[in-house]
This record gives sequence, C-alpha cells and structure tokens, in this order.
Amino acid sequence: MAAMRQSESLDARFYQAADQFFPANNKLALTFDDVTLATLYSEILPRDTQLDTRLAENLRLNIPVISSDMDTVTESRMAIAMAANGGLGLIHYNMPERQQLSEVSRVKNHVHGLIQEPIQVMPDQLIGDVLKMIEERKFAFGTFPVVDEKGKLVGLLSGHVVKPRYAKRKVAEVLTPRAQVHTIRQKELGKDPIARADKFFNERPGIHKLLVVDDKDNLRGLFTMSDIERITQERNAQFKPARDARFHLICGAAVSATRNAFGELDRERILNHVGALVERGVDVVAVSTAHGHSQGVGDTVRVLRDAFPKLPIIAGNVTGAAGVEYLAECGANAIKVGQGPGSICTTRIVAGVGIPQMTALYVCSRAAAKKKISILADGGIVKSGDIVKALTLSQAVICGGIFAGCNEAPGDVMEIGGKLYKQYRGMGSFAAMKAGSAARYGQPANPTQKVAPEGVEALKEACGSVDRVLAQLIGGIQSGMGYLGAANLTQLRDKARYIRVSPAGMREAAPHDVVELKTGN
Ligand code: XMP
Repeated sequence: MAAMRQSESLDARFYQAADQFFPANNKLALTFDDVTLATLYSEILPRDTQLDTRLAENLRLNIPVISSDMDTVTESRMAIAMAANGGLGLIHYNMPERQQLSEVSRVKNHVHGLIQEPIQVMPDQLIGDVLKMIEERKFAFGTFPVVDEKGKLVGLLSGHVVKPRYAKRKVAEVLTPRAQVHTIRQKELGKDPIARADKFFNERPGIHKLLVVDDKDNLRGLFTMSDIERITQERNAQFKPARDARFHLICGAAVSATRNAFGELDRERILNHVGALVERGVDVVAVSTAHGHSQGVGDTVRVLRDAFPKLPIIAGNVTGAAGVEYLAECGANAIKVGQGPGSICTTRIVAGVGIPQMTALYVCSRAAAKKKISILADGGIVKSGDIVKALTLSQAVICGGIFAGCNEAPGDVMEIGGKLYKQYRGMGSFAAMKAGSAARYGQPANPTQKVAPEGVEALKEACGSVDRVLAQLIGGIQSGMGYLGAANLTQLRDKARYIRVSPAGMREAAPHDVVELKTGN
C-alpha cells in the first residue's frame, strides 16, 4: 500500500493536473502538440465510454463535435450529417438571410432516410443525356424518378435501362409507367417514417425504391431500401442523432453583430433575423466574430438574451478569462475559444495576436466554470488526439478543416494531378469577406484590396462522408478516454494529467523510421 502511494506521488510529480500544470507553465503558451496526456489505471473499455455533453440547459449533444460556421464547411447537408451522428452543425452567415432561413428549415424538416430532393429526370430527355449527367456529377446510382415540368410524377427510370445501348431513346420510351411505380402519400408516413418504409420493403420483396407523393401526385421524396436498412441497423448504434423535443434534428445558425449605415448595432435587423430563425426552429445561434471580447458582440448577445430568454447562445471568439466573463455576463451560454489556431487562419501572422490553444482553453475553462457556462475549443484540430486534449478543458470542439473535404461540405470536388480536392477558405480570407463575412473581422462590408485578410484560400483532399470521418474521430476519443479510465467527459476533465513534450518526443509520437505503406488515417 505504501509502495502504491509512493508510485502515485512519483507520477503526480511528473504528470500534473490542469490546475498545477498550466499555472506552472504560465510563461509559455502551449498548444495540442506541446503536451501529452498520461495514462491512468482504467476499468473502462473504449467502446463503453459515453460522449454526451451539455452546452446549455436546453442544448445537449450526443457527441461533443460541432462543424464550423464557415461557407466551405456548414450548410444544411453538413448540419444534417452532424446532427444525425449526434453532433451539431452551425450554418454559416455568408449568404442572404432568407437563404440561411431555408437552410435551417431543411435541417429541421429533414426526415432521416427520406431523400427530400431526389435527382429527377424529364420524359423528353435522352438516355444519353442521363448517362452524361451520371458521369459528370459522379452519381453512384442510376435509377431516377421521372417528373413533368410541374413536378408531377410520371414514372421511374430504372437503372436497368440507363445503358449506352439505349442512349438515343427518350426517357418516356423506357420508363416504368406511373401506375406501376410504388408510392406512398406524404401524410401516410406518420410519426416514424423509417418504420413505415421498412414495413413497406418487408411486404414487397424485390422492390428497392419507394416514392413519396403529395395529394396532387407531385414528387416529395424517395426512400431506398439500402438507406432504410442502414438506418435500422444504426438505431442500435451507441450515439443517437441529436434531436429536439419534437424529434427533429437539431441545428445551429451563426449571426453577426450587424451594424447600420451609421456604424451602430442594427438591433432591429438582428432581432428580426434571429426571430425568423427561431420560428424555423433553430436550436442555438452563434454570434460569431474574430474578437468576441468587444462591445458589439456583448451588446448583440444582450439584445438576443433579452428578446429570447430561453434560446441557447454561443458567442466568441475569445482567449482570455475576462472575455469569457464578459460574454457570460451579457447572457451567452457557451463561448468559442480560439484566436488564430485554425488551419486557414493568419490572424497571428497578420495581427500578431492570439494564444495557442491549450493555454487559452485552460484560462477560459477556469473562468467558464465560475460562471457555470460551457466553452468550445474552436480551431486547430487536425487529429482525434487533439480532440481528446481539447475535451480535457472544454465541453465540445468546433472543427472546420477536418470536415471541409467531406461530401457534405458545400462546393464541388475538383481533380488536380489525379487527386480529388474541395475548396476550403478562411472566413477572413479576402474571397470570403467579399462574399459577406467582413463584419466578423471588423472590416468594412464591401472590402477592397486595402483590407488585411486574416485567412487563406486553400484546398482539402476529398475525404468521403462525414459518417466515416466522425467514426474515426469518435473511435480516437473513446480510445483516449479508455487510457485515462474516464467513463464520460466529466471524468475525462477531472482525470487528465499533463506533461510537456519535447520536439524529439513529438517526433517519437508519429510513425518514424519506417516506410509507411498505408497512412494511419
Ligand atoms: P480549423 O483548424 O478547424 O479551424 O480549420 C476552423 C476555425 O477557424 C476559425 N476561422 C478563422 N480564423 N481567419 C482566422 O483567423 C479566418 O479566415 C478564419 N476562418 C475561420 C473559425 O473559428 C473556425 O471555426
């Protein structure tokens, strides 16, 4: 027993708790790769760890991961995928307000498993044109509903006839006619559309598609058997989709501290916009700026808190305790922490300002705990180990670059030198500011070349679906928690023990002295 205590105290001298470690390193700002976490005695298997997190009284996620409110990361497709996996997407605001409202509606009205806007073809198109569309848009499927110019269902074009030998024929000649197409009325879907579709496919062996129509026989959606099978399997999955009380997927939206022509905060416009978002069912708004410890952001949060007492509000970004305290007192529930760590950020280079992420998170986390609010580690995350480290000090992470190459991120895939890429740009890059995000960086609404961009335009390698990327990240988080003996995120925060890593230690941490055949990720 005495030996045990001695070994524990030896460990404690080297591997320190946050409240010892960070103050002891207060002369040097540290980021993820500067530290490593010590392993601890564990009775926890990674697969048994719980990842649910509470960001505000009425905002809970089943996994602590949020996709950034950036115009190359989060629109409705990304937000749907994030919520379906238990996380949250923040729809960016680099678009007209009306468009942002409809992006939110798409997430809130999304029926899991129902393709709401299936790719359609018209009766007078040639099969050759359909083949060309499949090739150009890289579709992995070949069956399409056929509709007339008013959207009324005319039939189904089966993949069996979408072949080069029929290239010169019209869709109308080869389609399966309306009378033989299996459909269900929208209003018959009931409360559990997946169960309804599953029952349908059970009752009709060999049928793989079910079309949804309204009372006027206009096409409203499509179920495929493979999607339904995947979802019914997923229902047993550990991490359930993040839903609101009415069973809709949750969705966040970013708003800016908009100013009027006189440079004053445009309270009326902000209130109208957020009011409309709330009407569409938004679950949280994020007042997103590069400098959150500022009067404009504080006033915006106050205005929103007064008008919407129950609405969860995220605000940021800050890197200091005073900023957290200020935004908490204005009424924010969760604070974004991060200035300059992002993969596309140049704030530290351009402005000489910003704090490496682990130190910033420690300082902010202690202020947030006093105010009983959450903090979100925003930016600089490139691997699951970074997330584990971030979660020792925060309630969730916000990621841009990790998701920008996913199918669900806005923008097309481009091929360069035989590799596939997607565009990824900072919201403070010149191009993004020109498209509308200038206010976030305190720049004029119509920036000219004279403004100083604080972000770059870049590419990310295409990396497949969000499901796949998140599965890897979650596996890594659970593995980290297993090493620390942490059954949940609260225990992870309590148990974490840190030590600095030397540059040689950092090299040792990655594969070395081997010829890598396959990368670990
Ligand atoms: P990652 O590392 O996940 O970072 O790609 C995403 C986060 O970076 C922030 N962001 C910016 N920061 N200039 C900056 O200094 C920019 O142009 C910029 N754009 C985004 C933002 O917090 C995001 O979540």
